[in-house]
Amino acid sequence: MERLQKVLAHAGVASRRHCEELIVEGRVQVNGKVVKELGVKVDPAIDRIMVDGRPIRLEEHVYILLYKPTGVITSLHDPQGRRVVTDLLKGVKERVYPVGRLDYDTSGLLLLTNDGELANRLAHPSHEIDKVYRAWVKGVPAPEKVRKLAAGIMLEDGMTAPGQAKLIKTAPKGNKSLLELIIHEGRNRQVRRMCEAIGHPVLTLERVRLGFLSLEGLRPGEYRPLTSAEVKRLKSAVTIDSKSARKRV
Ligand code: URA
Repeated sequence: MERLQKVLAHAGVASRRHCEELIVEGRVQVNGKVVKELGVKVDPAIDRIMVDGRPIRLEEHVYILLYKPTGVITSLHDPQGRRVVTDLLKGVKERVYPVGRLDYDTSGLLLLTNDGELANRLAHPSHEIDKVYRAWVKGVPAPEKVRKLAAGIMLEDGMTAPGQAKLIKTAPKGNKSLLELIIHEGRNRQVRRMCEAIGHPVLTLERVRLGFLSLEGLRPGEYRPLTSAEVKRLKSAVTIDSKSARKRV
């Protein structure tokens, strides 16, 4: 939900200030009713908003798949002036925001969109969208520890939901190993905390897949729009009632 004047301004009706004047003058309707107060909040995806009897034009939905490099903040703005992910999207004029987050020192697949509905659904663990991470960790975790990662680990904010974990390889010197983890939650620094909890701290971390989406064809810092077929497939993966029939993407 956003303030009406902000939604109007985003739709290109006028500046935010001028939009406030339009509201006070009684020229704006929401769901058929004139709204003259400035505090009103609306959902542009659901509410019918008109100015002088004409529906406002909403921004097209855009869906961007970014290969986030390390050293970039998953945010729209950083008070400390560090690089943020949207700095990498030079050709994108719509106001997209990230779906979930990757740490400053995590690289990999990050989806950005202005489709709030899809973003919320994708972020919700009930839809069980696979988030696949590859982590180089210190040392060589014993099979029992790898099984624990998959079954669930007690962290300070509770038990992690079951996922999958496997040891991909160990460096020749045996001082580090590459793990692949598939999780469905998106808790703060979750993978790092899980690996720390089994005594094998993360050295580097990358998200390599989100559902059926991979990083194929992209290098760190590059991005591409999703195809319409990909958008359709993502939507269908999170629209379906996850209790009655779970569809994996
Ligand atoms: N888990 C983490 O620990 N960090 C990330 O960036 C993503 C998942």
